[in-house]
This record gives sequence, C-alpha cells and structure tokens, in this order.
Amino acid sequence: MLVDNFSFSDAREYWKYAPSGLGKISTESLLSRNDEDFLNIITNHYNSRASHYWEDVHLVKYFQNLFKGKKVLSFGSGIGHNEILFLEAGCYLTCADIVQSNLDVISRVAELKHLNTLSTLFMEDSSETNFKGPYDYIYARGSLHHMPFSLQKKTMENFVSALSDNGKIILNLYSSKFYEATTPSGDPKEFAKVTDPSVNGLNNPWSEYYDDQKMLELCGDNLHIVNKQVWNNDYYIWWGLEKGKKITEEKVNTEFMDIFNAELKSLEIIGTLQNNDFELTGGNYVENEYVLTDISNYGYVMVSDTPILQEVGNCVLNVIETDISLVQGSVSIGILDIAKDTFIQSFQVLTSGRAFHYLPVACNLDDIRLVISNFSPDKENQSHFKINNISLCQKK
Ligand SMILES: C[S@@+](CC[C@H](N)C(=O)[O-])C[C@H]1O[C@@H](n2cnc3c(N)ncnc32)[C@H](O)[C@@H]1O
Repeated sequence: MLVDNFSFSDAREYWKYAPSGLGKISTESLLSRNDEDFLNIITNHYNSRASHYWEDVHLVKYFQNLFKGKKVLSFGSGIGHNEILFLEAGCYLTCADIVQSNLDVISRVAELKHLNTLSTLFMEDSSETNFKGPYDYIYARGSLHHMPFSLQKKTMENFVSALSDNGKIILNLYSSKFYEATTPSGDPKEFAKVTDPSVNGLNNPWSEYYDDQKMLELCGDNLHIVNKQVWNNDYYIWWGLEKGKKITEEKVNTEFMDIFNAELKSLEIIGTLQNNDFELTGGNYVENEYVLTDISNYGYVMVSDTPILQEVGNCVLNVIETDISLVQGSVSIGILDIAKDTFIQSFQVLTSGRAFHYLPVACNLDDIRLVISNFSPDKENQSHFKINNISLCQKK
C-alpha cells in the first residue's frame, strides 16, 4: 500500500547512488571496479568524509568504543563509512539496507580487510522487516527519516522487538532548525531535495525533521529519550533511546560526549584573525566592535584581507575555530576559494548568543579567504554580531 505516494521501489532507485564523502556514488558501478581501484575509491571517499565533518572523528571513535564486542544493527548503512570502523573495533555487526548493491559494497570492503564479524540484511520494505536480534545497539544514521512518519513508527516497533532489555537505539536525524532554515513550505518531498541532491534525474523521495515533541511521539510508550546531541551546524540531532516509558517529566538530554572539548584538545593554535584582518564590505561597526550588516539576503559583510595561509607560515592549517556572539539575525561563515569563486566549507550561526564553531580546512589552497555573510533565506534582513576570536589551528 502506498503511504503519501511514497514507494520503496522509488526510494531504492534513488539510494543506489549512496552518499560517499565525495558526492553521490553509484554502488553498482563501484562494484564493477577491480579490487585495487575499488579500495582506493572507497578510501578516498572515507577520508574526504572524515575531514569534512570535524565532529565525526570524535563521535565515531566514541561509538567504536561503545560497540566493541557488542551486537549491533546498523539500519540504512549506506556504503559503511562508520560500519567498517565498527567492525575494525571488534563489533558483531548486521548491516541492513533497502539497496542490495550498497550492502554488497560493505561486504566486499569487509572481505578485502579480513573483517569477518559482518552479516547483511536486505530490506524489501524496511517498515515490515523482522530484525531478529537481540541487539545491544541499533544504530540508524541518516536513514530513518527517509520515509513517512507512519512507516518510521512501524520500524521503531520492530526495533524495540529486536533490542535487548538494556540496549540502546541511536538515531541521527535532521533537526527542525535545518528544515526551518531551508524549506518554509514544510513539504517532505521538497525538504528531501535540500537534504540530498538529485542524481541521474532522480529525486530523494522523502526527508522529515525531528523536534522534541515528534521524538516523544516516535518513542510512544515503548521508549524514552536518554541522549540528545546537536551536530553539524545544529542541522542534525543524535538521539539515544532506551526501553521503557520515562517516569518523570524531567528533561533528560545528556550528550553522548563532549565533542568540543575533544576537538579543542586535539588542536594547536598557529594564528589568529582580528577585526582589522578583515575588510568590512557590507555593514558598519557599531558599539565597540559589533557589526551591523546592511539589509540583504546573502551579502558579504567581512572578507579576510590576505590569503589565510599567509597567516600561518609553514604550519599546516587544518581547522578554523570561530567564536562569535550573535545579537540579531543570522550569519554564514565560509571559506572562499578565490580562484574558483566557490565556498569550500561554510556554516551558519542561526541562534542569538555566543557560540564556538569549527571549520575543517580540507584543502591545500594558496588563496582561501574567510568570508562572513549576512544570511537570510526568507526575506532581506539585517544582522548584528561580534567576532570574539578566530583561531587558525593545526591538528596536534
Ligand atoms: C543518507 S544515507 C546514510 C548512509 C549511512 N548511514 C551514512 O551515514 O553514510 C541513507 C541510507 O539509508 C538507506 N535508506 C533510504 N531510505 C530508507 C528507508 N526507508 N529504510 C531504510 N533504509 C533507507 C539508503 O539506501 C542509504 O543507504
């Protein structure tokens, strides 16, 4: 039966192009490569992904330790960026996906790396799948939200049946912040095109977002929320759920780990940028170093006046740490490749208050500049903010 015009066969066609770390990749064509090419492509994609999401390095390490020697189900495992690391850590892993060729990629990597604690499960309809179990952990990273809520609910009931009594379900889902910043129409089919690019004429059929209330609805009487951790520009949330209904109304939002502290410990500061290292291009200074932007949707407000690499001499620049206080509106901070006139990394500060962010510099370019822009997708607006500090950092 079709729910909201969503069909697993359409979803399967789209997701044969899996997210890889270097854009979408056809897992069917990847499998046609010889072993050496196959492993090289996979390694490049894994490395690119790890350097793109600075938080991943710490969080995935945390999950690796958690899953050591445990029985884990990974639901919607894609090409197994995290899953191969879990196997290497000694986890007994079942990878489940609606695309057989995605599963075949993980099996082949595992075989080539002599990792023999993997099994796979093809799901014709993931909401009707019996996962068997019992599992210590069920891990669904960026997958559950790609079908209508009623199907997600059914899947969760099947997760609960497959979870050991002391087990935990770990979900990575889009946040309401992501959806509000990008898809005012509220249509899951439109949001789907924002979260994942169309490929070969096919659109991602479905993406939903979560807030606390919707998560409580998903949990129903069977589960309660134990962990909540925002991730990647607050556009995603990691949730940890355990069996049983929560007895008190008290909010329990413990983070899985302190990612900022882990990142900070791994960095050495090799340079800094101050206000006078920027050219003010779209606003004015008001009250002691605060910037009031011009009224715009996306205008550049501050551009660093020399190539960033000039500031760090012979050191290798891996990460830019920004410490910004936002009073009003929202700003985007990006690394601009001058020659190509494209942003190679960016994030948005959307909530008032002081916040730290880390921008991985996954490139080795001579002329990259830091650009702070006004960010207002809905209508022209004005933002008000202050740079407290910008540190140029090298990984220790
Ligand atoms: C965005 S990718 C995430 C892959 C992987 N977890 C990762 O983090 O790289 C979504 C994955 O979920 C699978 N998927 C998409 N829709 C699904 C659904 N309704 N049920 C189960 N898996 C689904 C896709 O085949 C794909 O492998």
